[in-house]
Order: sequence, then C-alpha cells, then structure tokens
Amino acid sequence: MEQRIASLPLIDVQQVTYRYPVQNAAKDQELLVAVPALQNVNLQIQKGEYVALLGHNGCGKSTLARHCNALLLPDQGKVLIAGMDTRDVAKQNMIRERVGMIFQNPDNQLIATLVEDDIAWGLTIRGYPLQQIRERVAEALDAVNIRHLRQLPPDKLSGGQRQRLAIAGILALRPQCIIADEASSMLDPFSRQELAKLFAQIHHMFGLTIIQVTHLLEEAIYAQRIVVMERGQIIQEGTPAQIFSNVERLRELKLIIPEPLTLVEHLRSAGFTIADHALTIEEIAQEIANA
Ligand SMILES: Nc1ncnc2c1ncn2[C@@H]1O[C@H](COP(=O)(O)OP(=O)(O)O)[C@@H](O)[C@H]1O
Ligand SMILES: [Mg+2]
Repeated sequence: MEQRIASLPLIDVQQVTYRYPVQNAAKDQELLVAVPALQNVNLQIQKGEYVALLGHNGCGKSTLARHCNALLLPDQGKVLIAGMDTRDVAKQNMIRERVGMIFQNPDNQLIATLVEDDIAWGLTIRGYPLQQIRERVAEALDAVNIRHLRQLPPDKLSGGQRQRLAIAGILALRPQCIIADEASSMLDPFSRQELAKLFAQIHHMFGLTIIQVTHLLEEAIYAQRIVVMERGQIIQEGTPAQIFSNVERLRELKLIIPEPLTLVEHLRSAGFTIADHALTIEEIAQEIANA
C-alpha cells in the first residue's frame, strides 16, 4: 500500500477534454464544433519534478494549468492531485493548498502594505502561531533574495521584485507544487531570465514540484522535462536537449527560436559538431573549444 502511494503521481491528468462555456452556443453551429480548449490530454507529473509547459498563445497551457489546482474542472476525463479528484468539492481546498499558482501580474496577488506582511498574510489568515510565521517569512524572503526589501511597500519594488514577492508568499505556505503561468511575461528580458533561474533554484533547494508555463523556449531550458502543447493537445514531451534538437519542428509550432539555438544551427552548417545538450552561449562556447 505504501509503495503504491509513493509511486502515485502528484499530478495525474487523465483523458481530459474541456470546452469553455460559450454564451448562445446552442444557436451557433460554428461555436458548437469549435476546437475544445483541451482535447484528450494525459499528463503525469511526479512529486519533485521540474516541468516546462510550452506552446504558442492560445494552445491551452493556462487551461491545463488551471485544471491542476481545481480552478477549472474537466468536462470529460479526470484530474487527480495526490490521488484527490479535483471534482470532489470537499477536497478542493486541500488541492489548492498543495498546488500554488503564480500568474502574469504579481499585483493581483499582493495584498499588504509592507513586503514582509504580504508574505505573512496567507499564514496569518490560516491561524499559524506568530513564531512560525516569523520563521517562514524569513525563509521565504531568503529563498527569493528579497530580504533587504522586507520593510518596503510592495509598490516601491520593481516588476521582477514584485513577482519574487508573490512567489515568496506562496513558498511560505509550503505547497508541494508551484505552477507559474507566464509569470515573467510583464518583465524585461534580464528579469525574465533571473526569474527562470529562480525557479530552478527553488526546485533545487526545496525539491518542490515546478510547472513553468511559457511560450518562450529560452525559459524552458532549466526544466527536466518539456511538455509541448498545440491546439489543446500535448504533442511532444522530452528533455530540453531532445526538444531543442529539432529546430524546424519548433518553427512549425510558431515558437520563437532563441539566439543560441540559431547560432548552433549556423555552427553545424559550417561544419562544427555541437552536442544537443549545449543550450546556452557558455555551453556552446565550450563545445567549440572542445572541437
Ligand atoms: N475564459 C475563456 N473563455 C472562452 N475561451 C477561452 C477562455 N480562456 C481561454 N479561452 C480559449 O481557450 C483556448 C486556450 O486558451 P489558453 O488556455 O488561455 O491558452 P494559452 O495559455 O496557451 O495561451 C484559446 O482558444 C482561448 O481563446
Ligand atoms: Mg496562458
């Protein structure tokens, strides 16, 4: 019995189909036959995995992410979180405690007038004792490197810092999984890269399950597994090296090819041998040095 529980995926999406309710759809044949937002989706994520959910806009990433913490419920199929069915109303709060979500705009998630109070908020309303709140707030501040900002009002923080604060607020609640849905999309390129690295760090430090939802290939390189979506379906899965090895396919999927990948293409056609696992400029330079 214990072994069965140990091997249970944290997230188990089984044959899920979902259509957004459309007003007056009954009268509109076109809308009735419209492609569902999710179609027969199967996805298993183990506890402690770091997965990137990748695909261009409108392919169904957010819809799938919202199924993973019972914000949306499947029309067909089912979603189990640590064995709990998301349709079971009695389990939905527990599911949302386990799976925390970070959205595009951090400002929708910030509540208090001081950074440290904002992190404490979720713990306070759950009735945690003061000492434990202090410890967890301190730990969360350090985990996202914003300890020096703890006495500031959140609106004095940069976009990247505010997104870190939103992550700290979730971390303090000790979920088993964090889903970041395009959490970097309002940030500049540097802060985006920093945020992607932060997820890798959090994964490493806490062994947390991370699902990073993105349409940007360069943000997916730190994940252990990339799950590619297209038109409401999962069409490909693999390690970053496997997914990045077929650039033509990525172009077909309307994904923007990051510069290092274009560089690898040019180097290969110029006769260099570059291994598939070289995904950053530093790794590519190393490949050239080794050639
Ligand atoms: N609230 C909604 N109502 C109706 N249709 C929606 C809604 N949200 C998303 N959709 C549609 O569902 C599909 C998948 O959207 P979404 O999951 O948001 O994709 P992604 O996150 O990959 O950009 C798209 O065709 C989108 O237009
Ligand atoms: Mg989305």
